[in-house]
Amino acid sequence: MKILVTGGGGFLGSHLSEALIERGDEVFILEPGGTTKVRHLIGHPRFRVVRDSVLSPDILDSLISQVDLVFHHAAVVGVEHYVGDPYEVLNVNVNGTQNVLKAAFKYGRRVVLASTSEVYGRNPKVPWREDDDRVLGSTRIDRWCYSTSKATAEHLCFAYRKMGLPVTIVRYFNIYGPRLDKLDAGRIITIFMGQLLRGEPLTVIGDGLQTRCFTWVADAIRATIAAGVNPGTEGEIFNIGTDVETSILELAETMIEICGGISTVRFVNQREVYGDSYEDIPRRVPDATRMREILGVHCDTALREGLVRTIDSFREEFQPRAMARAAGV
Ligand SMILES: NC(=O)c1ccc[n+]([C@@H]2O[C@H](COP(=O)([O-])OP(=O)(O)OC[C@H]3O[C@@H](n4cnc5c(N)ncnc54)[C@H](O)[C@@H]3O)[C@@H](O)[C@H]2O)c1
Repeated sequence: MKILVTGGGGFLGSHLSEALIERGDEVFILEPGGTTKVRHLIGHPRFRVVRDSVLSPDILDSLISQVDLVFHHAAVVGVEHYVGDPYEVLNVNVNGTQNVLKAAFKYGRRVVLASTSEVYGRNPKVPWREDDDRVLGSTRIDRWCYSTSKATAEHLCFAYRKMGLPVTIVRYFNIYGPRLDKLDAGRIITIFMGQLLRGEPLTVIGDGLQTRCFTWVADAIRATIAAGVNPGTEGEIFNIGTDVETSILELAETMIEICGGISTVRFVNQREVYGDSYEDIPRRVPDATRMREILGVHCDTALREGLVRTIDSFREEFQPRAMARAAGV
């Protein structure tokens, strides 16, 4: 197939592009950011990078006219953006999705939207099934803008579906693996990684008893591709993730143990890190039944195994650079 991956230079987009190329597909990525995460694919005869934005309707029109399927992964992601730049989050995640859907509708192309477990907000009833309620805080709290932007994108998908567009929604639950984010930035595993590689204490926010379901990237990518190509997935929503819960404290301790047990844990107050506009969710657990039964995918790679591979990949990236710096090269 000919496939467009928007945000294809990001963490999931890079793994998805790699898996699609392995399947024999021809892949275009639309990515305004860096291409470091796909540098190993550049030069492949079935891979093309377009350095532009989902906010450029003409580019989208031209790209979507040439493909069979769109994986719409472009988004502004990360807590620092929800609280630091809510305008950009809403603009890219809502208006960018609208642009993708408009062009896909014009050419009748299938779209898979990358959505998030954040759409369930702080609904206390876990595990969450795809049709469960969204429970959110006030619009004065910027923290909810990402959840709302993705839920709006989902509504847009269903509005276009009503007009005949084939769409599928995948909601990811804490996917991790090599190429996740930059060290010290973005998500908890890369923040811990930076601290570990420098031998600093790992900063656990609050009491560390909040849990997440950390899902190995290759498992999530298999489910994503199945959502795009399997029959019977049109018009559906799928939670993508493991239902094994791990507390943030356990995550920190496991990462410390894998790295030789030298670092320690330092507990910090949430307000110190994110100010007043952030509210943490105590538990975030998918009901993964539909993913298993309809997509035929099990996200069952053990966290320890995935963390070892992730830590190794970050060490390979980080240590040669650190050694070169130390040697003054
Ligand atoms: N990784 C997860 O655990 C997770 C969880 C929930 C949802 N998601 C969703 O999956 C998708 C991919 O997330 P990720 O983890 O790979 O994050 P990521 O930040 O690595 O990838 C997003 C990519 O989108 C690109 N992008 C930003 N603005 C753009 C624009 N205007 N036009 C085109 N591209 C643009 C970014 O440069 C980045 O490369 C996102 O839609 C995200 O909301 C991911």
